[in-house]
Amino acid sequence: MLKLNTEMILPFVEEQDYQKALDEAKMAYDILLSGSGPGGGMRGWLDLPVSADRQLVEDCKMIATRWLGSMDVVVVVGIGGSFLGAKCALEAFSHSFASAGERNSPHIVFAGFSLSEDYMSDLLGYLKKKSYGLIVISKSGTTIEPALAFRILRMNMLHRFGEEDTRRRIVTVTDPSKGALREMSLRYGYTSLSIPSDVGGRYSVMSAVGLLPIAVAGFDIESFLGGAREAREVLMNRSDDNPALIYAALRNIMYRYGKKIEVFVNYHPKLKYLGEWLKQLFAESEGKNHKGLFPATLDFTTDLHSVGQYIQDGERIMFETSVLAGSKEVVVPVPPSTDNLDGLDYLVGKTLEDVNYMAEKGTRMAHTSGNVPNIYMEMEQIDEWNMGQLFYFFEFSCAVSAYMLGVNPFDQPAVEVYKTNLYRLLGRPGYTDKQ
Ligand code: PA5
Repeated sequence: MLKLNTEMILPFVEEQDYQKALDEAKMAYDILLSGSGPGGGMRGWLDLPVSADRQLVEDCKMIATRWLGSMDVVVVVGIGGSFLGAKCALEAFSHSFASAGERNSPHIVFAGFSLSEDYMSDLLGYLKKKSYGLIVISKSGTTIEPALAFRILRMNMLHRFGEEDTRRRIVTVTDPSKGALREMSLRYGYTSLSIPSDVGGRYSVMSAVGLLPIAVAGFDIESFLGGAREAREVLMNRSDDNPALIYAALRNIMYRYGKKIEVFVNYHPKLKYLGEWLKQLFAESEGKNHKGLFPATLDFTTDLHSVGQYIQDGERIMFETSVLAGSKEVVVPVPPSTDNLDGLDYLVGKTLEDVNYMAEKGTRMAHTSGNVPNIYMEMEQIDEWNMGQLFYFFEFSCAVSAYMLGVNPFDQPAVEVYKTNLYRLLGRPGYTDKQ
């Protein structure tokens, strides 16, 4: 199981504050498990690692097998919670240069997460001579970014492949019974998987939303769910040792101490999108009623050479939550050189991972000495099992933490303000008089 290390944050915390917050975390845990809090009907994600039924796993694998060899590319269309989990997982599992075509599985690319014309035009150009499939993910089926991307790509497909072939190239993932995407799936006979009604977007990575793209990319969804199951067993305990309760308590203490920004840090480019997923999870779950930690992300050691100055010596308003990971079997030793002109001979005998590890350690020491408390999660390596644990850990912690803050972890009413303005400006029927 992943390890939560608190040794570099506890010195900043008063003992009585810790006990009080831990007790509050336990009460929030009771609210979460009993379903008695706001949004209590949206807790289906808690059981996905145990309830993701055999049929769903088989369906995902069947689609992956069907497309293997026949699709050069699969475009995954979605935004927010219907995009970030799969994007994060695939970035984490894939070879850093996988697009160079080393894998047998289709190259997975994403669309519908922005309205950029440049991006869409590049994508259409990229797809021009390729055989491609579409996975369209939208719970509501009406979100404008993915809906528009789907329309453009579907028309492109119909034009290139004709109606019958297009039908075989599209899979939708949406609400079991309602919404435009469900209606289109029924009308045109697209293969379709359901997102359970009691699972919201940012908590949906263990449903078809995450599992289908991961399976189509050729990764092991059973191991992914297995890791999450193990995390679930550990976290379903109302005890002082529960790492999710400890983490939720500590981040709420930081907030009360005036540390209003939580910086999610990684030391591996493959974990860059973990930060993006975490940002959405915490911001949409907690940023309500003028409350909540502001989630930021940094990629180290890259950003130590840009934002490092601020972290060390700017406003003292943040703490860091780092995710550390060992390397996967690979060893890249520092080679000897004949001239030592770069002065690096003192590193011969070490690996790049040894150096990265010391950079992590040195950074934590520097930042805590600069009054930036540090929490860190340690995982053995970046793979399906460990990422399954990590996703579940953060979802669970986030829900507990939001209940401690007194907000509904499962809605996002403020997002509607932007949507209403956009629809009004675009002249959508029914929206022209809305403010
Ligand atoms: O977490 C959420 O609920 C949101 O981020 C949604 O996932 C996002 O807005 C996309 O919604 P939909 O899946 O309905 O297109």
